[in-house]
Amino acid sequence: MDIIQKMIEELRNQKHVHIRDWDYVKRTIENIAKDGPEKLQVVADFDRTLTKYMSNGTICATCHKVLEEGDHLPEFYRTKATELRDTYFPLEMNPELPVSEKIPLMIEWWTKAHDLLATCGITKQSIRKMVESSTAQLRDGCVWLFDHLHDLDIPMLIFSAGIGDVLEEVISVHATHHSNMKVVSNYMAFDECDRMVGFQGDMIHVYNKNENAIHDSDYFPSLEKRSNIMLLGDGIGDLHMADGVTHVSNKLTIGFLNVKIEESLELYTSKYDIVICADETMDIVNSIIKLVTST
Ligand code: TMP
Ligand code: MG
Repeated sequence: MDIIQKMIEELRNQKHVHIRDWDYVKRTIENIAKDGPEKLQVVADFDRTLTKYMSNGTICATCHKVLEEGDHLPEFYRTKATELRDTYFPLEMNPELPVSEKIPLMIEWWTKAHDLLATCGITKQSIRKMVESSTAQLRDGCVWLFDHLHDLDIPMLIFSAGIGDVLEEVISVHATHHSNMKVVSNYMAFDECDRMVGFQGDMIHVYNKNENAIHDSDYFPSLEKRSNIMLLGDGIGDLHMADGVTHVSNKLTIGFLNVKIEESLELYTSKYDIVICADETMDIVNSIIKLVTST
């Protein structure tokens, strides 16, 4: 049995892995492996894709939540931000609600959360401290993934509706921010005293990852020869993160389903090629990356 067939058999035996079209997945892995690392690029979401949803039974922080943990920011911020998440996160994750209805709600959430943050006087220096004491964690295996992609010079785009300044600190505290990694996210704007006064550029929320700066930039066109894509996400909106890729030969999408698993499984398997449920590791992604970059 060849090694790709063997891996497919192993995936079939994992109860938390769901695949709609096994032939497509096998064929796509074979094609990507045949073309080798020079043709590959990776596009990944950050919160709950590169980071864990849960660790030891506790929900881990997203970029925004990092700022709510600890006591660096005023109490009113924590109370209000928690209220906002308790209102809007269930709506983001509700499989019954169509995307068209979710979009205005997500814009509302991000606008309120960002306006609120701008009243808190966050300093650049305090972000590192907040990250260090936070519950935000990269998935087990992320360090290997980042190092391996860097060793093989495979570009990785991290496209996040979180907060770029926080995300970069999470990566540098728990792994290495290599030169092959490009981050597109919401970056804070600071005044001359290094106090946060708002955000730069257009807001990125979970459902506009197909219409942001990266798609108008030369990032994807400059990678024209890398026509094989592995896309990693945890939300339905993440599936559009690579829409700007000019030439696609093979695309494999891998979705982490972390919450409302039973209710969302059908939707996720209809959209993502591979769905990984309630798994806080990068093990399956890494085994596929290892395979396609070594054969
Ligand atoms: P992502 O696109 O990198 O996954 O980041 C978006 C996540 O951030 C999304 O799942 C919702 C979450 N979020 C918060 O936890 N708090 C907030 O205030 C906002 C605006 C988003
Ligand atoms: Mg996410």
